[in-house]
Amino acid sequence: MNTTAKDTAAATDTVAERPPVFSVDGLWKVFGPKAKAARVPADPVLAALGPAELRSRTGCTAAVADVSFDVRQGEVFVVMGLSGSGKSTLVRCLTRLVEPTAGSITIDGEDVRAMDRSRLRALRRHRAAMVFQHFGLLPHRTVLDNVAYGLEVQGMGRAARRERAAAVVAKVGLEGLEQRRPGQLSGGQRQRVGLARALAVDPEVLLFDEPFSALDPLIRRDMQEEVVRLHREEGRTMVFITHDLQEALRLGDRIALMRDGRVVQLGTPEEIVGSPADDYVREFVRDVPREQVLTVRTAMRPAADADEAGTGPAIRPGATVSEAIEAVARAGSAARVMDEGRCLGVVDATDLLSVVAGTADGAAPAGPAAVRRTAGAARLGAAATGERRAPADPRPATTEEPA
Ligand SMILES: Nc1ncnc2c1ncn2[C@@H]1O[C@H](COP(=O)(O)OP(=O)(O)OP(=O)(O)O)[C@@H](O)[C@H]1O
Ligand SMILES: [Mg+2]
Repeated sequence: MNTTAKDTAAATDTVAERPPVFSVDGLWKVFGPKAKAARVPADPVLAALGPAELRSRTGCTAAVADVSFDVRQGEVFVVMGLSGSGKSTLVRCLTRLVEPTAGSITIDGEDVRAMDRSRLRALRRHRAAMVFQHFGLLPHRTVLDNVAYGLEVQGMGRAARRERAAAVVAKVGLEGLEQRRPGQLSGGQRQRVGLARALAVDPEVLLFDEPFSALDPLIRRDMQEEVVRLHREEGRTMVFITHDLQEALRLGDRIALMRDGRVVQLGTPEEIVGSPADDYVREFVRDVPREQVLTVRTAMRPAADADEAGTGPAIRPGATVSEAIEAVARAGSAARVMDEGRCLGVVDATDLLSVVAGTADGAAPAGPAAVRRTAGAARLGAAATGERRAPADPRPATTEEPA
């Protein structure tokens, strides 16, 4: 029921073993007077200042401060944080829509900061397509022509691009609406057009900057499912920005949590919820139902004896604690965590309840298994949590950009 294509992929490889698409190292973007801004990353005293002090000492804002991460092939990499934490600036730096102040960015090993204008144009047109919050559609063009726009810019002929656009329009569920104009569509439909336009160019990586935050909750859920479906079918690499924790948990293979331009924690949904790095993260994830995100790997213990290892219902290591509770309740006995016929451990009612109560050591196990994706489970869990919102700043997004 909750075994996705990606879960199957995860059984044969681990996210950690895949090569990076984007690789970001020591990245800074400091806004302010240019000469002053350039000094901030290089000066250890300035670089260590908090945002208020940096502003009062230099007049600069470090929107992105010493950020490093890899986006691995085929993963959904979520960047989450409150308004103003630097998410948009970070994602724009990836294709230099915003020019970084310091640090390095590579895509498939190629230095993005060294690209000339034509390489950069090719990067944005072919390799990394962006989906924006307010769609950025051309109002006088039909759905079909909006979707074909990126192909037109690439120089593809009219017949070929319309054929390709029609296929992508159908893929995102807009068949029959090809001749409408954006003004004749609902918000959700418009965002599907935005998504189709990005997909049409068949980019290596899709970049989403809070694409669904203007949509009402039900349509938003629909669009999230659309992204999950597309990702499952195509395995496309995605960088997804959101300030909504539920959305992050539902979509992310890994989540980078930002605060004041810095990444305060980077991990799987299970790691973020199970082992918050500090009080800020703890506060962020406080209301998440742990049993729906944490897996039985967190709860299991070694079997007491051969009898315990040999009896009881079998569950997958990626099953959520919530699923295990159901299995244990049904069987009336401890369950065995089984991986390819091997018993990894057992969980009984007490083990599972201590996860719910938060008294278990929530740390995800060490080793490669720890980075195996659990987002299938997280998604399922998150889907059951309704639209409970993370503590988030209600201010609207500050930045917007048409394509
Ligand atoms: N062009 C700019 N000039 C000066 N400061 C900027 C500029 N763009 C962004 N900032 C500042 O950089 C910081 C990060 O902004 P950014 O837009 O990246 O945040 P965000 O996390 O995307 O927020 P939101 O959720 O509201 O979209 C903020 O303090 C913002 O005021
Ligand atoms: Mg933003």
